[in-house]
Amino acid sequence: MEKIIYILLLIILESDFYKDITTIYNPTSYDFLVNKNNKLTSDYVPNDLEPIDIKYSCKDKYLRHEARINFEKLSKEAKKKGFNIIAVSTYRSYEYQDKLYNNYVLDKGAYYANMASARAGHSEHQTGLAVDVADKSLEYDNFENTKEFDWMKNNAHKYGFILRYPKASFHITGFKHEPWHYRYVGIDIATYIYKNNLTFEEYKLNTI
Ligand code: DAL
Ligand code: ZN
Repeated sequence: MEKIIYILLLIILESDFYKDITTIYNPTSYDFLVNKNNKLTSDYVPNDLEPIDIKYSCKDKYLRHEARINFEKLSKEAKKKGFNIIAVSTYRSYEYQDKLYNNYVLDKGAYYANMASARAGHSEHQTGLAVDVADKSLEYDNFENTKEFDWMKNNAHKYGFILRYPKASFHITGFKHEPWHYRYVGIDIATYIYKNNLTFEEYKLNTI
């Protein structure tokens, strides 16, 4: 049922997504918007990617320097309180995202793929500022049902991360609810977004 609703929404809204696209060249700040209408160039690779401590991630997971530091702080504090927040997907290259998206289309069809996976250049994972998390099970798609998700919902902003694709925000973000996907924007902006219950798109619209 949920799938049908998303597909109908996507058909209605499709005219706005992936249209009038703005290209972002070599971003260095932490608060730039990447979505269906704002894309990175195919050759963009952040120049400050660093590996996350293996205590808090699967093997070879990279984030930009400030995001990496804050993610490790977040996981360390969570762990002290009995919550395991593990990074399972972080930086992805343009080419890797292209393969992921195309496989999704082959597997699930174009409409569903467009709700769940970004086209190459349009994924936050290419920014080096996005992280998909899971609990000890490493099953990110079950994260919504874990005690770790409740902790993340109420604490991620203290470390500069926002829940990027909240429930019932598809018409704004262009993606279905992703309880596992967090984006680093810095502590001040993350706290503002959390306290005002905004999506990143709404925040950007109000601050331009
Ligand atoms: N799943 C998110 C939207 C991505 O592909 O970047
Ligand atoms: Zn993600």
